Amino acid sequence: MASDSTESNDPMADDFDLPSLSLKQQLLLEAAGKAVSYIGDERTGPVAPRPATASELVNDLRSRLTTSLDKPMSPSDALELLHWAGLQGAVRSTGGRYFGFVNGGVKPAALASSILAGAWDQNVALPVMSPVGSVVDEVAASWMVELLGLPASATASFCAGASIANVTAIVAARDYLLELQGWDCPTDGLIGAPKVSVIASAEIHVSVLKALRLAGLGTSSVVMVPTDRYGRLDPDQMPAIDGPTLLLLQAGNVNTGHSDPFDRIIDQLNPDDTWVHVDGAFGLWANASADRRRFVAGVERADSWATDAHKWLNAPYDCGLVVCADGTRLRRSMQMDASYVPSDGELRPLMNLGIQMSQGARAVPVWAILATEGKSGIEAMIDRCCDAASRFASRLQDAGVTVVAPVVLNQVLVSFGSDAQTDEVVAKVQSSQKCWMGATTWQGKRAMRISISDTSTTDDDVDDAVETVLSAWSEVGHRRDV
Ligand SMILES: Cc1ncc(COP(=O)(O)O)c(C=O)c1O
Repeated sequence: MASDSTESNDPMADDFDLPSLSLKQQLLLEAAGKAVSYIGDERTGPVAPRPATASELVNDLRSRLTTSLDKPMSPSDALELLHWAGLQGAVRSTGGRYFGFVNGGVKPAALASSILAGAWDQNVALPVMSPVGSVVDEVAASWMVELLGLPASATASFCAGASIANVTAIVAARDYLLELQGWDCPTDGLIGAPKVSVIASAEIHVSVLKALRLAGLGTSSVVMVPTDRYGRLDPDQMPAIDGPTLLLLQAGNVNTGHSDPFDRIIDQLNPDDTWVHVDGAFGLWANASADRRRFVAGVERADSWATDAHKWLNAPYDCGLVVCADGTRLRRSMQMDASYVPSDGELRPLMNLGIQMSQGARAVPVWAILATEGKSGIEAMIDRCCDAASRFASRLQDAGVTVVAPVVLNQVLVSFGSDAQTDEVVAKVQSSQKCWMGATTWQGKRAMRISISDTSTTDDDVDDAVETVLSAWSEVGHRRDV
């Protein structure tokens, strides 16, 4: 147990085996021990501790964690309490058996390096604040551009997630499209500004619509282009482009994993007055795989992209990436100047490439993943998840389950007869605690949504999960021998 440093009056200080360590060092060792014990059963313990909405669990956590602010506890007791809370209330999304949402696990090198970066506690807003953070960021950002198959001249900037990346890119696009019309949006704002037309895939992710709201463009005038039955924009239904236009496309539909046909769409555009932004929170990673690249063909022809490292790359949260083909556009919209802020020098001032000023060294775990996996390792990670998704779908299909959309990446959509039956199967699987997948509505029908985004998922994990799903299906009345 840790105490306050060597000057501590803590009566428990004598208990320590390593009294020469500072409080910080002792607590770090303590936290590491607890983290190691948590991870010990991540592959075997219940995936979801109890149904996530169970009020008993929530009330228990609430009452134990609402400690007295008038009687602060020791850091060691706080760690003990958090460890207990984690064991009770954390969803084990890192043990290969969590298929809900597109969350992703965490690569060992990424987790360990993020602890190291936590000890550094760097603010990477400016190179002067963190030479190491700035250089790691520069290297990792350029590796990301290369791995994702984007133009080598593009500028990438880490941020909290794809939602923030979407806002950042859309603000840069808005400013550019208004500048084309002689309007200086960063200075004059949006009141009285000329119009920016917005066209989007009808299946564009909700975070892009939120980004439009935050960027002051709203959603009511967006022209939504219909999609096919797998959620891909139909290029034959693209409206005529009239003046400066923002076109919002999707790499990786959040349900089916399918992507818009970028080449066919972009071929129709006049690049001089159109800005194409792609939300590729997970789907852009298809471009890192020689086998899956064809599903996002032409995506590199866009003007900006949003993606995540905390999803399919399996970096810890919060880590997204915005990329702009023309980095000057990003800087023009994100620039902050103040007399106390030195922003010259050879390294990039990151606060001028994104929304945040202060920011942690998010690139450190990304660097660790990329440096330890290399190009072939990243490609294998992506392919392994896609192969696992295909295995999932074909084993379920062989057992008579309806696969709603052909599997192209890491997303599987299946249904079990009526909507009610599908929901019942999902609920039974969730409460089994053996694996976890969510439910969705796809083109008017309920479906089970299975995402293989944790790169530690093995074939055995898939096979066990298939068994869990099939036995849940039997329990809701399906006879497996029929
Ligand atoms: C396709 C897609 N786009 C954007 C987002 C938003 O990303 P983030 O959660 O990193 O903000 C998500 C999140 O699930 C997503 O799946």
